[in-house]
Amino acid sequence: MNDETLPEVIMPSCPNRQLLKGQKALVTGANSGIGREVAVYLAKEGADVVVNYVAGKRAANQAVAEIKATGQRGLAIQADVSNEAQVKAMFRQMCDALGTIDILVNNAGLQQDAPFDEMTLAQWNKVLGVNLTGQFLCAREAVREFKRRGVVPEVSCAAGKIISMSSVHEVIPWAGHVNYAASKGGVMLMTKSLAQEVAPYRIRVNSICPGAIRTPINTDAWETPEAYAELMKLIPYNRIGEPEDIARATAWMASDDADYVQGVSFFVDGGMTLYPGFAEGG
Ligand code: BGC
Repeated sequence: MNDETLPEVIMPSCPNRQLLKGQKALVTGANSGIGREVAVYLAKEGADVVVNYVAGKRAANQAVAEIKATGQRGLAIQADVSNEAQVKAMFRQMCDALGTIDILVNNAGLQQDAPFDEMTLAQWNKVLGVNLTGQFLCAREAVREFKRRGVVPEVSCAAGKIISMSSVHEVIPWAGHVNYAASKGGVMLMTKSLAQEVAPYRIRVNSICPGAIRTPINTDAWETPEAYAELMKLIPYNRIGEPEDIARATAWMASDDADYVQGVSFFVDGGMTLYPGFAEGG
């Protein structure tokens, strides 16, 4: 593709439009937590959505039912994102069923916490495998399809969008979670480097960096009043995040309203990255 083949950008103008009308999205790890909320929200904004899961078929099917209730197409596909063959098969299945992919939300992620000197190689490899290699494998398949297909102006200004679900821990060091923080630090520079590489093809790549969001991954941090009070010391905005906070940001980031946004880490964290300890210290 060169400059002459790129269509002119036409700014969307209708205020009540669905942000993602006519687009096809894949959300990894969409059977629970942030991924589930994102998948259903993208459908409400007009996208057909593939719900990827590795375990939790019933929950994945429930998410698909909610997607279908919005009037969009939904499909659950099982695949371990850290497994190359399974990722390739998932993209083939999606393209067979829906024709193509416009939006990849690289969301699947997990924690396996341990003090550093007790951390096993298996814990290290599992977290890096899903959180970082999984994002690489899915992004690579998406980029291949985006490049093959190019821009379809009736659908989107861009040839494709990748949203990496990162974390505040792409910049905040996290004792006891070294594997997790390392994976998210990796996601940050993978996202920015890839954004630089594929921008000329009008492929947009950005990260969403959630703070503490009320999901099963961090129940210990919010389920008792004592834990919640401790957590609030880290959040200037003084409330926990809800999955919908992330879903709204993701839908915007994937939409043409964000067409000039490339390679950014978009923190959605109630101010967690603002060094709350310095509100009174320093
Ligand atoms: C982690 C959560 C944690 C949050 C804020 C997320 O990336 O998965 O367990 O509550 O960061 O520290």
